[in-house]
Amino acid sequence: MDYENKVVAITGAGSGMGRAMVQEFAGRGAFVAAIGRTQSKIDESVRLLSNPERAKTFRADVSVESSVAKTIEQIVGHWGRIDVLVNNAGVLDTYEPAHTVSLEDWERVLSINLTGPFLMSKYVIPHMLRQEKGSIVNIASLSSFSAAGGGSAYTASKHGLLGLTRQLCFEYGAKGIRVNAICPGATATPMALHGGTDALPDMNEGIMKTPAQRWCRPEEIARLTAFLSGDEGDFVHGSSFVIDGGWLTAARDAF
Ligand SMILES: NC(=O)c1ccc[n+]([C@@H]2O[C@H](COP(=O)([O-])OP(=O)(O)OC[C@H]3O[C@@H](n4cnc5c(N)ncnc54)[C@H](O)[C@@H]3O)[C@@H](O)[C@H]2O)c1
Repeated sequence: MDYENKVVAITGAGSGMGRAMVQEFAGRGAFVAAIGRTQSKIDESVRLLSNPERAKTFRADVSVESSVAKTIEQIVGHWGRIDVLVNNAGVLDTYEPAHTVSLEDWERVLSINLTGPFLMSKYVIPHMLRQEKGSIVNIASLSSFSAAGGGSAYTASKHGLLGLTRQLCFEYGAKGIRVNAICPGATATPMALHGGTDALPDMNEGIMKTPAQRWCRPEEIARLTAFLSGDEGDFVHGSSFVIDGGWLTAARDAF
């Protein structure tokens, strides 16, 4: 119960990794703010808990400043503080070649994957400064390092998220706020399994060429998040943790 009575805010909490994080942190004794766009999905994440009284849902769109500001105010109004922020919400792009991508789709992806974590951090950091302690974990991607895991908007957004992680570490690390990123490989969540786009490459083929030869489980990302954001990770500042079954290092073939 290393998170006993700590307040953990998780975006994109209604499915995939976010849902696994709600389970992980509530199981470790945290109060969990399950943030998401779709009420029924975040409700379900809380309903699945053996201790649902530890969590509360907050409906918000991370790409809309007024929605973020209101949500952070509500969380702090309810629990009085925020110890951990996990910027997990994200969307894929359409995998189209750059010259055919509409400006609208580019902006949609950037606004959720990059502006979202910026806005959430902007409104959470004043509370962490007041507490003189806090931890932010950004869920980036292998697409923070290489091309082909997404289209231009997804890859650019995830590269940008590492830049944001490093800049926030520089600005706030000495003030007690640790900021790190996790860069997952192919993880068995609705995003990767269905993708919301017919253009998603068949990842099974790529996965079988990695050392691990299997999908990552969302629970594995959740456990690494809990390690990084807690006191066990106290010396970790500004890092980006690849958790990909060896894909980036030793895959025999890119997908
Ligand atoms: N699954 C993978 O293989 C993989 C690999 C690397 C990185 N990631 C990243 O992991 C994170 C979690 O993704 P996942 O795989 O669990 O996918 P997912 O689609 O299951 O979860 C993403 C969640 O974010 C929410 N969301 C989207 N836009 C939002 C917005 N504007 N405001 C609030 N919530 C919003 C969605 O409703 C969804 O519940 C994402 O940032 C994704 O880019 C996923």
